[in-house]
Amino acid sequence: MSHTILHIDSSPLGDNSVTRKLTAKTVAQLREANADSTVITRDLAHSPLPHLSAQTLASFFTPADQRDEAQQNDVKLSDEAIDELIKADTVVIGSPMWNFGIPSVLKAWVDHVARAGLTFKYGETGPEGLLAADKKVIIVSARGGAYSEGPMKAMDFQETYLKSVLEFLGLRDISFVRAEGVAMGPDAAELALKQADEHLAQTLNKAA
Ligand SMILES: Cc1cc2nc3c(=O)[nH]c(=O)nc-3n(C[C@H](O)[C@H](O)[C@H](O)COP(=O)(O)O)c2cc1C
Repeated sequence: MSHTILHIDSSPLGDNSVTRKLTAKTVAQLREANADSTVITRDLAHSPLPHLSAQTLASFFTPADQRDEAQQNDVKLSDEAIDELIKADTVVIGSPMWNFGIPSVLKAWVDHVARAGLTFKYGETGPEGLLAADKKVIIVSARGGAYSEGPMKAMDFQETYLKSVLEFLGLRDISFVRAEGVAMGPDAAELALKQADEHLAQTLNKAA
C-alpha cells in the first residue's frame, strides 16, 4: 500500500544537527518498512515560511470563492503546507529546543497550517481538530539539557507545545524520538543518541 511521509526539518545546523541526523534515520527506516513510499520534504531552515502579515490574515478570512488574485497568492503557501499535511500518512518533525521552545521557523509553519475551517473549527462543544486522528506523527526532539524529568521539566515548552497544537488540529497518534542532554558532556551526548535510537525502534515497532 502506498505510504506518504512528510519530512520536516527546522535546524539550520546541517551536518552538525542532531535532529537532522535523526529525522533522516527515521525516514530511512519508514521507507524500509513501507515498500511503496513517497517522501515530501519541507526544509524550514533553508526555505522558511514568512511570518503572517495583516494582509495574509485578511486573505485567510476572505472566503475562498471571493478571493482576488493577490489574495489567492497570499494563501498559497499555507494551502500548500496544509495539503502536504493532509496527504501524509506519517509526519516526521525535527525540532530542536530553542530557548525552551521551538525554532521560529517551525512556529511559522504551525501558524500556516493551523487554519480555522481547514485544520480546526470551533463548534458548540468548543474546538475540533479536522486532521485525520490516525495520521502518525513522530516528533524528533533534541535539547542540550534534560527536561523529560527533574527540575527542568516545567521549562519544556517545546515538546509540550508541539503535542498540544497538533492535538488541537485533531492528531492523536504522536510519538517522540528524543535526544536530550546533548550539551551535558560526551557521555551524556552518547547516551542521548542511544536513547533516541531506542525511542525510534519502539515507535516503529508500535507502528508495525
Ligand atoms: C539558539 C539555540 C537555543 C537553544 N536553547 C536551548 C534551550 O533552551 N534548552 C536546551 O536544553 N538546549 C538549548 N539549545 C541546544 C539545542 O537544543 C541542542 O543543541 C540541539 O541538539 C539542537 O538541535 P540540532 O542539533 O538539530 O540543531 C539551544 C541551541 C541553540 C542553537
